[in-house]
Amino acid sequence: MTNLTRSLLLIRTLFLTLVLTLTLGCQGGIQNSPGTSGPEIIPYPDPSLSPTERARALLSIMTLEEKIGQMTQIERVYLQDGSPIAQFHLGSVLSGGGSTPNPNTPAGWADMIDEYQDQALSTRLRIPLLYGTDAVHGHNNLMGATIFPHNIGLGATGNPQLVEEIARITAIEATATGIHWTFAPSISVPQNIRWGRTYEGYSEDPELTALLGAAAVRGYQGQDISAPDRLIATAKHFLGDGGTTEGIDQGDTQVSFETLRTLHARPYIDAIEAGVKTIMVSFNSWNGIKLHGSRELITDLLRGELGFDGLILSDWGAVKQLPGNEKDQIEKAILAGIDMVMVPDDFRGFTRSLIDLVNQGRVPMERIDDAVFWILRLKFALGLFESPMVDRSQAETIGSPDHRAVARQAVRESLVVLKNNGVLPIGDSVQHIHVIGTKANDIGVQSGGWTITWQGRRGTITAGTTILEGMQSLATDRGITLSSGRTIPENTDLVLLVVGELPYAEFEGDTDEPRLKTDDVEFHRIARESNKPIATVIISGRPLIITEEIEHWDGLVAAWLPGTEGDGVAEILFGVYEPTGRLSFTWPRSMKFYELDEAEILFPLGFGL
Ligand code: BGC
Ligand code: BGC
Repeated sequence: MTNLTRSLLLIRTLFLTLVLTLTLGCQGGIQNSPGTSGPEIIPYPDPSLSPTERARALLSIMTLEEKIGQMTQIERVYLQDGSPIAQFHLGSVLSGGGSTPNPNTPAGWADMIDEYQDQALSTRLRIPLLYGTDAVHGHNNLMGATIFPHNIGLGATGNPQLVEEIARITAIEATATGIHWTFAPSISVPQNIRWGRTYEGYSEDPELTALLGAAAVRGYQGQDISAPDRLIATAKHFLGDGGTTEGIDQGDTQVSFETLRTLHARPYIDAIEAGVKTIMVSFNSWNGIKLHGSRELITDLLRGELGFDGLILSDWGAVKQLPGNEKDQIEKAILAGIDMVMVPDDFRGFTRSLIDLVNQGRVPMERIDDAVFWILRLKFALGLFESPMVDRSQAETIGSPDHRAVARQAVRESLVVLKNNGVLPIGDSVQHIHVIGTKANDIGVQSGGWTITWQGRRGTITAGTTILEGMQSLATDRGITLSSGRTIPENTDLVLLVVGELPYAEFEGDTDEPRLKTDDVEFHRIARESNKPIATVIISGRPLIITEEIEHWDGLVAAWLPGTEGDGVAEILFGVYEPTGRLSFTWPRSMKFYELDEAEILFPLGFGL
């Protein structure tokens, strides 16, 4: 752009801003009543200008209350009838884990989000709302959506094209219900499997995490974020969430700046290069200082050194964990560089405190303008001002065979064969298979946390195929008989033992030693006492300590948390596809491994038969 065109554009922006100010001024700041405004478009000031120019123009006519409202993100359950959106000029609403409309259908979501959008569009400036959620392995809060393997399984595929495709499909399914923004990918680099969020990370290896994280960002956001089926991505949680002492969730990451930089910040470099639009700050501390109050890491490192030029979001209620009273906490977080706060409940308290802080000069207006600029620019870039209402045209593709086929391919590629004394793939000599272990037939268990509910649940929580169902249909095709249950028939040629972890998510998933629990210990004993060959499948969010049990197994496959397409597991067991998965985490022999004992490794990073 020449200097002349630049000046002309600037004059045009200023002129249009003036016209707009006058128009709105004449209307005397009219508040349209909710519902009557519809999707009418006000150009701010002109769609042919860049999102940056439009954001600046809009910012220049906003009141302090309107600005603070934009910085506020509230969970839907705290909105009652949605009227606080208009009243407090809220910038964003989220669905937390399991926070769904009733009915939990594509139309249920779209209707809910359109209603909220009507509220936002009924305000003086008609700034549309951003709706966010954790679509972390598919649009996982929605019943009937395609559920992909959790990131730990995708890490084992090592396949960035596949990860990009999964994110693209997730974007289609989520945007078809009105979601604009996913709080994914998690690019944590978990260093201790005690952490209950280990499975949300692709790998303990920062390079692999960087590769796959960037692929996910490209898949969610696409080339052109204003396309109707593109989703804003969030790289999370900045910074060092995977490095806390003993893997304690929201704990303290006691490492040098050097380690923080080369290990935990590494994937952010690629995510930023891939154009990630938002980054979520982490609950954890770094050497005793909470990330949410760290200007050094948020402003100096992330904005400065790493050059991030998008929106920085807080995590759920995390600002309230900072020291001091409510105002001290908010002051600290905003001055550290957070642009939008996932409050997520008390919009009154938050907005009132932040307005006071600005009026008292404790938070400068420049910081507020800077924060609101990132938010508005993102909304303009997304094309929200032009198309604020839900585009429902892709709703029939949700959970479609095409989408499920990609999930099934991901399952095949994510399985890691860890041991095989000739029992895999299941060969011609096998006439009868016996499947033991209740986890073999459970969509909820194989999907894990962040599926329909926050912590996840056992049982038929959504549509899909269990591992047992997948086994059954392939066995039938081959004329093999199959039984299941606690009693192993005499004619059994192979026992398939399916064990693992029950669903969990953040903090509830933390454990001192991940291992087989009561039921599974019993199933293992029954299998062992049958004296038949045993092939074991482990469904889990991390490696488990299985050093004693593994001696009795002739085959072992790590299936991670495969999601709704359990037939992908059966296809590997039967040799329909060759296993290609490789461990993206070291598999420890015992928890002494974390006291830096190399001899305590059962299977090394990258292992897979
Ligand atoms: C989690 C985030 C998540 C947010 C919203 C928080 O508790 O740490 O990963 O995006 O909740 O559900
Ligand atoms: C929400 C989650 C959130 C968590 C934080 C839950 O009630 O559903 O999304 O991450 O609270 O504590």
